[in-house]
Amino acid sequence: MTPAETTLLVVEDDRSNLESLERLLSKEDYKVLTAPDARVALEVLRKQRAHIVLTDLMMPGLSGIDLLKAIKTVSPETEVILMTAYGTVETAVEAMRAGAYDFVEKPLKRMQILKTVAKAMEKSSLVAENRTLREEISQLRKREIIGNSPALRQVLEVAAQAAPSVATVLILGESGTGKELLARYVHTKSQRAAGPFVGVNCAAIPESILEAELFGHERGAFTGAVAKREGRFAQAKGGTLFLDEIGELSASVQVKLLRVLQEGEYEPVGGRTQRADVRIVAATNRDLAAEVAAGRFREDLYYRLNVIAITAPPLRSRPGDVPLLVEHFVKVFGQRNNKGPFTVSPAAIEKLAHYAWPGNVRELENTLERAVVLSRSNVIDLADLPRQIVENERARSEIVVSIGTPLEEIERTVIRETLRATQGDKRLTAQLLGIATRTIYRKLAEERGASGEVTDDDDEPVA
Ligand SMILES: Nc1ncnc2c1ncn2[C@@H]1O[C@H](COP(=O)(O)OP(=O)(O)OP(=O)(O)O)[C@@H](O)[C@H]1O
Ligand SMILES: [Mg+2]
Repeated sequence: MTPAETTLLVVEDDRSNLESLERLLSKEDYKVLTAPDARVALEVLRKQRAHIVLTDLMMPGLSGIDLLKAIKTVSPETEVILMTAYGTVETAVEAMRAGAYDFVEKPLKRMQILKTVAKAMEKSSLVAENRTLREEISQLRKREIIGNSPALRQVLEVAAQAAPSVATVLILGESGTGKELLARYVHTKSQRAAGPFVGVNCAAIPESILEAELFGHERGAFTGAVAKREGRFAQAKGGTLFLDEIGELSASVQVKLLRVLQEGEYEPVGGRTQRADVRIVAATNRDLAAEVAAGRFREDLYYRLNVIAITAPPLRSRPGDVPLLVEHFVKVFGQRNNKGPFTVSPAAIEKLAHYAWPGNVRELENTLERAVVLSRSNVIDLADLPRQIVENERARSEIVVSIGTPLEEIERTVIRETLRATQGDKRLTAQLLGIATRTIYRKLAEERGASGEVTDDDDEPVA
């Protein structure tokens, strides 16, 4: 930050003092605002943000300390410097406690004022820089794909393999499973990573304007088109265009999209043909093949989109990812809310891992955000979770397995879940599964040995 980028508000009831301060600071290139008292100062601040406020301590009406407290409430990042002729140690201490950056004594000395203001400016820009970095980290964290289940690892592998090609990628999966995250992942691993990633939610844009939104329009192309406008295809030039909720496209837009995929060309509404320079990644939570069978989605478009298909597995099919996701979200939300670090009680993890998560990772994320925000200790426990998750005693009688899950993993899952349903009765489990009891012991031992992961039945009584 330079002085020219720094807005300073000077508050002083003595007019000649105010004017000489204004002159002094303007000469140094600061952007200087002035106010004759605290009330006017607050009014000015309502309209415009100041990086630094330089205020007199003793003023008629609201004092400098009151002003300081008001500023720190509404704009904690504004640095406040107090000027006082009556500076006693107590007021200085009170001022610093209330969050003042510094105070200077009257009569004011030119050099001292400039030095203090320059230091406050430095702090202000450090604080701003720090905030930007924290936001960036939080953004990056949001892009991180957490999970170590075979189902997820396999999906990431396919995505990483597909990424460098120019092929269209279709991402399927239930709501909240991380389809958008996967789309970004494909983009970052592609040759176009340095280009833009532009997303369009086809379901959120009214059908009547979707075409113009995607392809752009010329000035006067239709009523209301007062200026020429770039579409998302143009914005995504050199990068990736993410068409989200593709299952919602109307028949007419489906035709136009098909043309782009076939010929690599499109027409802005009322304009001339353009070459498309985008990689398309599409996603839907609909069963697109069923939509084709029902005649709601063009078969030719389906095949064009479906060059490489990736299915994001539902969270209930990979309960092993739940503890990792829990740890991640609790950390992220703890930092974001300036709380924590948190731990999550084993009982809470257990409940979270057993819940069916119809809203998948998004639901888990929201559940933990709420728990972190409302928690009054640094331990997330059952009391911090919604009732339907804690009271979810219903033994699951079904297991969902993603296509391509290694048989060993399926076997382990079936054994684990049957054990759970029989409350750890290994003999009954063996009978149900048609295997010897000792096979169960062996499989469980293998599982521990193989992955070193803590299994849910570690504390089961031996039957
Ligand atoms: N494996 C994961 N690791 C970390 N965060 C995840 C993971 N999967 C999903 N999320 C988070 O869950 C939320 C939902 O993910 P995303 O928006 O990608 O899902 P989606 O499949 O596009 O959902 P919808 O169909 O509802 O649009 C996001 O906040 C995302 O960051
Ligand atoms: Mg989505």
